Parts: sequence; structure tokens; C-alpha cells
Amino acid sequence: MNHLLDHSLAEAMVSASNEARADLLLNYLAEHGLTNYDENVTQLEHGLQSATLARNSGASRELVIGALLHDLGHLLVDEHAATGDFLDEDLNHEEVAADYLAPYLGPAVLEPIRLHVPAKRYLCTVDPDYYNGLSDASKRSFQVQGGKMSDEEKAEMEKNEFLEEALTLRRWDDGGKVKGLETPTLADFRDDLVAVLEAK
Ligand SMILES: [Fe+2]
Repeated sequence: MNHLLDHSLAEAMVSASNEARADLLLNYLAEHGLTNYDENVTQLEHGLQSATLARNSGASRELVIGALLHDLGHLLVDEHAATGDFLDEDLNHEEVAADYLAPYLGPAVLEPIRLHVPAKRYLCTVDPDYYNGLSDASKRSFQVQGGKMSDEEKAEMEKNEFLEEALTLRRWDDGGKVKGLETPTLADFRDDLVAVLEAK
């Protein structure tokens, strides 16, 4: 397996308009999201389901786009379920995506993305029911992601101004794994994506 970061998207985005950047991002998800996220959904379906849960709950467009793009890091380093990649080794996909998109999107989009794995560790630490409700794959990746938080890590997390958004994104992430669920398409998120690119 090859986990080199794919720079092609960044290179294409750098001198593009925000409209074109939106299309580049959506096309990237369409082309690279066809690998499996887990046994039930592709990575593209997982992103669309997460974003749909966000939209249906009346979330801000920043958080809707954060939900859509939260696992872009998996695609950028080409890790997916078929190889068991992110179950055995943690490549910090949440940091990868947030850093990659930092020139183009603001903290209201990127910080919940950056925090969506710590959010899982946080929720597992404070809420045993949350841990029990995770999928088997998510329980397994939890171990390589660091397991429960220490008191210091938990206190640090609670100081973050995007804590609530990150925990909320995490719940949509956990919910976005339903086999065969119909959702809006990538094109239905284009206007929100252009708007948050423009707002940066
Ligand atoms: Fe996810």
C-alpha cells in the first residue's frame, strides 16, 4: 500500500477560482470515494450521509461542508476498508484533511474536521454508552487512535471553542454508515461549498 499524500488536488486548486475549487473538490470525492469506508458504505456515501444528517438537523453551511469533507484525509492518503488500513495504523487523516484545506477554508469548517477523531476519544471517555454503540470497525480504530483520553487531554479538549461542533459532527459521522440510503448528490452541496470557500 502507498500512503503518500496526493498533491494533485492542491496543485489544481491553488490558482483556481472558488467555483472551480468547489468542482475540483467534488470531483475528487466522486472519483476517489468509490472505495469502501466499511462493510456497508463507500467513502463517498459516508460523506454524503454525514452531510445530509448535518443539513437535516439545520446545521450551519460550514458544518454541513465539514461533514461532507471530514474524511477527505482518508482519500488523500489512499486508505480504505479493503486494506484494513485505518484499522491497523493511524495516519491522522483528520489532521491531513484540515491542513490540506487550510488555504481555502476557515476554522468553522476545518476545526470540527480536525477534531472529529479526538471527539470520538472524548465521547468514549465520558460516555460508556457511546462506546458501546460504535460499529465494530470504529471500536477497533479507536484503539489505534489512542483509546480513552487522559484527564489532561479531556481538559484540553473542553477548552476548544469548536468542541460542540466537533462532537456534533462526530455523531453524524457515526450515523452516516447506512447501507443503501438515498441522499442528495454531491451537486446538491455545491452552493454551500462555494459559499464557504468565498467566506474564507
Ligand atoms: Fe467519518
